Amino acid sequence: MDPAAAVSTERRSRQRSETATQIDLDTEKRVAAEAAAGLVEDGMVIGLGTGSTVDCFLQALAARGLNIRCVATSPRTEELARALGLAIEPFDHLDRLDIAVDGADQIAPDRWLVKGRGNALTHEKIVAAAADRFVVIASSDKVVERLTPPVPLEILAFGIAATLRALGHAKLRDAPPSPDGGVIADYLGPLTDPAAVAARLVATPGVVEHGLFPPGLVAEILVGRGSRAERLR
Ligand code: 5RP
Repeated sequence: MDPAAAVSTERRSRQRSETATQIDLDTEKRVAAEAAAGLVEDGMVIGLGTGSTVDCFLQALAARGLNIRCVATSPRTEELARALGLAIEPFDHLDRLDIAVDGADQIAPDRWLVKGRGNALTHEKIVAAAADRFVVIASSDKVVERLTPPVPLEILAFGIAATLRALGHAKLRDAPPSPDGGVIADYLGPLTDPAAVAARLVATPGVVEHGLFPPGLVAEILVGRGSRAERLR
């Protein structure tokens, strides 16, 4: 085979296997999302996270046709939820939620999470903390042996250069602002002790919120594995 044809055959085969992997991950997101939708009961107030796995949850939830009230963590989620016929309310008068369901970027064995690739981390953390039960849904690729940077940050525009300097290992992300107009950055320093890093980030003036979610916030983790949802213990 001439070298050009060999390269093109190899490229096609790589593309086929990438497509297959994406289909597998989409199935895993869907089964985890469907398992979470099964936890919702008539009359509940639900917090809706953000991301492609949550998009699957919105579909599964809407399909159940329950009488529920929802709050959304981002304009993206609100738009899709409304289009699917889910009743969305502002999150200003409700002081608690029955369940919040959201995705994750990384899930560690000790149940620390990294979240926020979709820029809505502050809303996501407020909603998770307000819920009696915060349920995390994810495909199996999100389960990691240990958390690694980046950790998304929302920071204030005022004093931004000083905040980044104080953080040390951090850089601005080329991303749209948060739903509240906050600037999105990434913490890139060591992450061997997530509790210590979280405490340091919280203590840095100018940091509005960070994407490290502690195990105490997490009630359940539902991970898609192949065509089944598994509850992580
Ligand atoms: C958005 C998030 C998402 O939940 C996280 O990025 C996972 O997204 P996806 O379900 O698309 O993989 O934290 O801020």
